Amino acid sequence: MAKLWDGRFEKETNPAVNDFNSSLRFDKRMFRQDIRGSIAHAAMLGKQGIIPMDTSIRIQEGLQGILADMEAGRIDTNTDAEDIHMFVESLLTERIGDDGKRLHTGRSRNDQVALDLRLYVLDESNVLKEELVRLMRTLLAIAKENLTTWLPGYTHLQKAQPVTLAHHMMAYFAMFRRDLQRLTDWEKRTAISPLGSGAMAGTTYPLDREFVADQLGLLGITDNSLDGVSDRDFAIELGSCISLIMMHLSRFSEELILWSTNEFSFVEMDDAYSTGSSIMPQKKNPDVTELIRGKTGRVYGNLMTLLTMMKGLPLAYNKDMQEDKEAIFDSLDTVFACLPVFTDMLATMKIKKENMAEGAKGGYMNATDLADYLVYRGLPFRDAHAVSGKLVLYAIHQNKALDDLSLEEMRAVSPMFDETIYEAISLSAVVNRRNLPGGPAPEAVTRAIENAESYLNTL
Ligand code: ARG
Repeated sequence: MAKLWDGRFEKETNPAVNDFNSSLRFDKRMFRQDIRGSIAHAAMLGKQGIIPMDTSIRIQEGLQGILADMEAGRIDTNTDAEDIHMFVESLLTERIGDDGKRLHTGRSRNDQVALDLRLYVLDESNVLKEELVRLMRTLLAIAKENLTTWLPGYTHLQKAQPVTLAHHMMAYFAMFRRDLQRLTDWEKRTAISPLGSGAMAGTTYPLDREFVADQLGLLGITDNSLDGVSDRDFAIELGSCISLIMMHLSRFSEELILWSTNEFSFVEMDDAYSTGSSIMPQKKNPDVTELIRGKTGRVYGNLMTLLTMMKGLPLAYNKDMQEDKEAIFDSLDTVFACLPVFTDMLATMKIKKENMAEGAKGGYMNATDLADYLVYRGLPFRDAHAVSGKLVLYAIHQNKALDDLSLEEMRAVSPMFDETIYEAISLSAVVNRRNLPGGPAPEAVTRAIENAESYLNTL
């Protein structure tokens, strides 16, 4: 393809340099956004009388034709064009002749690429939000079914206090809700049009920047032409939003890996979401979750790529910034590879309620409640803590649970115990009593689920 800037050059570009310089092989995925932006720009040029109206219309029609042909896969993008912007513009001129050469009036590839990338990530974010909501609905469905599925809660991965599976699922709901809110907030800063920034100092043509933003469904225009072409905060922020989503998915995956072990045996992944071993016939491995945990690393890496790419760049545009695309595209591709399969895996996972309840009984997790029992009877908490600790030590030596100690054994440590202690430290009582907002009691989790549902209904 002929260069659109070769006027001041006396030599052809070295083919290796051409290849090195070209971003077409990865930025061609922005062809829809590039064409959408160009159509809005051409419409504005016509409306402002910067180019004749019939030229504007021919350009717009030509671009629509290219869009249709690209969508249908009728166009070979395997050319030596420098990037998607040059590719589309050259094709347009090839098709409609000299009118095509007027499209780039009052525009630079620097504001063009800044716009295209914003439009692209906004489109992707809409799909990402839908996937997050699907995961959140799946979590709610599991929570509703498991309000009284007792589950051990851990700190330091040591048994701490019993909760319910519903409560555990709602913890992840809270994380993914924040992820969703972050994307919604990010959109406000991203849906802003940089067109009109030109190469870096704006332009002399009487562009209607607001009109272009409006045509593209954006919320406004950038404030400063230097910043307009050289700001990639929106890509870094999105890289960070995706990193947080992956971090949440990875923590969840780690738990599901543990829960799938023979030792825990709290869940079993459906056969359709597990893999076997080539040598050990008995194996059923949770590869999906492991891959998600593993892929989190590359998404963090992409975030570092973007941050590092920007940190030394003087204003305004620098070619380094072409490197933004592969990093953010890979993060998007990765989260889109992980989220749907994770949701489907979760929805089909077998929950072994009896094993969870069994786990919730062990580990002296009612020791805090035993102490609280004494506190309600007037003992200071520190003293109650000591009594409870002594009884735990005694029970460990007897190889018994606290509930299995006789009243005599308990009264030997403190005379404040009576028959009511057994009900007070029963598994259901321990959980049910924790009914503050945000607590694990079925009553509190029911309210949390109601709130979550009304939140999803506002979306
Ligand atoms: N391919 C370039 C990029 O991705 C487009 C902008 C190029 N601008 C320029 N002046 N070379 O950043």
